[in-house]
Amino acid sequence: MSKRVAIIGAGPSGLAQLRAFQSDQAKGADIPEVVCFEKQSDWGGLWRYDWRTGLDAKGEPVHGSMYRYLWSNGPKEGLEFADYSFDEHFGKPIASYPPRAVLFDYIEGRVKKAGIRDWIRFETAVRRVEETAAGGFRVVSEDLNSGEETDEHFDHVVVASGHFSTPNVPHYPGFDRFGGRILHAHDFRDAVEFKDQDILILGSSYSAEDIGSQCWKYGAKSITCCYRTAPMGYDWPDNWKEVPALQRLEGKTAHFKDGTSQAVDAIILCTGYLHHFPFMEEKLTLKTTNRLATADLFKGVAFVGNTDLFYLGMQDQWYTFNMFDAQAWWVRDAIMGRISVPTDPKALAADVAAREAEEEAQADGYGPIVYQGAYVKELMDETDYPSFDVEVANQAFKEWKGHKKKNIMTFRDNGYVSPLSGKRAPAHHTPWKDALDDSMEAYLKS
Ligand SMILES: Cc1cc2nc3c(=O)[nH]c(=O)nc-3n(C[C@H](O)[C@H](O)[C@H](O)COP(=O)(O)OP(=O)(O)OC[C@H]3O[C@@H](n4cnc5c(N)ncnc54)[C@H](O)[C@@H]3O)c2cc1C
Ligand SMILES: NC(=O)c1ccc[n+]([C@@H]2O[C@H](COP(=O)([O-])OP(=O)(O)OC[C@H]3O[C@@H](n4cnc5c(N)ncnc54)[C@H](OP(=O)(O)O)[C@@H]3O)[C@@H](O)[C@H]2O)c1
Repeated sequence: MSKRVAIIGAGPSGLAQLRAFQSDQAKGADIPEVVCFEKQSDWGGLWRYDWRTGLDAKGEPVHGSMYRYLWSNGPKEGLEFADYSFDEHFGKPIASYPPRAVLFDYIEGRVKKAGIRDWIRFETAVRRVEETAAGGFRVVSEDLNSGEETDEHFDHVVVASGHFSTPNVPHYPGFDRFGGRILHAHDFRDAVEFKDQDILILGSSYSAEDIGSQCWKYGAKSITCCYRTAPMGYDWPDNWKEVPALQRLEGKTAHFKDGTSQAVDAIILCTGYLHHFPFMEEKLTLKTTNRLATADLFKGVAFVGNTDLFYLGMQDQWYTFNMFDAQAWWVRDAIMGRISVPTDPKALAADVAAREAEEEAQADGYGPIVYQGAYVKELMDETDYPSFDVEVANQAFKEWKGHKKKNIMTFRDNGYVSPLSGKRAPAHHTPWKDALDDSMEAYLKS
């Protein structure tokens, strides 16, 4: 086949795309030439821990948003690769909330086995993607070591550059004169930095919950979380409170909408991320908020303005690795001509609108999980991605929600049923709140 496919990013989504093509090739298919561009020196995307913040050694914005001691915030049974089980990788059953290093090892295990590292140009950043008049795309990339630019033509582009790396940083009155540290979650690395401090957290989503929990676990004096829309509402430890929105700071005192105030040493902005694609030509740029039914993507992947262009993993996520796989297998089959993508703009827009309406019809709680599970199943059913029992994965998320409600500091001590093996994971040997060593060796100890 003479087609050429560019994949931007070698995180879990980009690696899923590589694995999708490689599995087809292994079955004897004549696949296109596939080139994956990765600006970092290794694969794994966010799961590759980076101690740096700000700019990296090459002057590029640091991609990493993960921090030390990060454990999965959802059960691993909800993200298990259908073609590579946890049991296969670790050779034994492991507990349900692996720390970052354990999940990195799992991600890497599958692609090492597939032998696709040579398909990736590391330390190479994509600088520009443009439509060409004759069809396909012009892709300009830069070798970050030599500075040399390469200008190439590809028939398809798959953008897998992630959307949790460009921080959304609001301003509040008094930030400019606050005498302590103000940082976004993207730059948070080590909770030990905040030991014995009074911490203020803005936001009421997963980063707020988890970074607050890290700071609590590693000895912060107090945690105050302020919410803009709604509180998280868990039964927090005694030194943790939730208050309504921040109004202003006066020196080191934070004032909230309900008239209360709190003296704080540091402020952590857990205020989410922006979808940011500075390398894409304007008309090819995905503009969406962080939601389950992304704007402008047919089947959640094909860009309605040009269906030779695909975006992977751009949804807000309950399902992650297995959803990226389902998307990647579907995109591969669209590129291979096995799946036909409508050419009528109205049909493309109708698909997006229907997905948005269905998302909006979901009640809070369990509904959005079932919705995303159904989306994964829909894509999976249209390809040869090895199917897995989505109901069992949904059930793991359902139990997870219940365990969090019961006790936010012990939910990670539970085990869930694998949609692949049908077996329940063992409890971890040490309760999460007492497990200060997050290394793979410590986690895998029996
Ligand atoms: C703090 C945090 C914790 C999380 N915890 C969990 C969790 O516990 N469980 C879970 O399932 N998910 C979690 N996630 C969700 C996470 O988004 C996914 O697990 C996954 O990493 C997304 O994969 P991705 O490949 O789409 O993006 P990323 O992992 O972000 O990878 C994108 C890749 O693209 C590369 N890239 C970007 N721009 C360019 C360019 N111009 N040129 C070349 N390369 C480029 C980057 O270097 C990177 O390697 C977490 C996210 C965050 C922010
Ligand atoms: N251990 C882990 O696994 C872990 C840890 C952290 C994060 N994550 C993942 O990282 C991803 C991103 O999560 P996230 O929590 O960073 O982002 P998010 O889910 O998009 O939430 C953003 C939060 O910021 C608030 N916010 C936005 N702008 C604000 C403003 N101007 N003032 C005050 N509040 C504002 C939002 O409030 P409103 O509700 O008012 O909009 C919301 O609560 C998720 O996929 C999550 O699972 C995982």
